[in-house]
Amino acid sequence: MGSLLKVRQYGDPCLRQKSVLVEEIGVPERMLIQAMVQTMHEDKGIGLAAPQVGINKRIFVIDIGDGPMVFINPKIINAEGASVLEEGCLSIPEALVKVERPEKIRVQYRDEDNKLFERDFDELQARVIQHENDHLDGKMIVDYATEEELAKWKKKLEEIEKEKK
Ligand code: NI
Repeated sequence: MGSLLKVRQYGDPCLRQKSVLVEEIGVPERMLIQAMVQTMHEDKGIGLAAPQVGINKRIFVIDIGDGPMVFINPKIINAEGASVLEEGCLSIPEALVKVERPEKIRVQYRDEDNKLFERDFDELQARVIQHENDHLDGKMIVDYATEEELAKWKKKLEEIEKEKK
């Protein structure tokens, strides 16, 4: 059951919008989440945010190899440390950008059963959560790129934008 969703590519306006809070977690939301998890697994991603499938709601899913986790209306309420790692994104195939982010975060969020959590995350989980959370505010890895990196990816980004049309 379920169907795969189309992952929007760089240049799609959905990726640049600020997503809205989810007011009710019901059947449509749970169906969307289920389809997002399937799509993430199919595309071998470790995270997928709703705007990436054209839905500007504050929802994302992650799976760093230990099973899917759902984040609804996430809020990063504390952050400490800093680390740099190269990140990719299903919406910008082939591009890798070095991104500096806090190492440890505390996140408040709801799951698909509307249960409220407040949890600490570190390492890869913290990184993926922050990457996906950025998507909810219309932010993407290229926004962290240096002029030099951007120049390197410029042609590829233009190609992705063109293919999309
Ligand atoms: Ni991404």
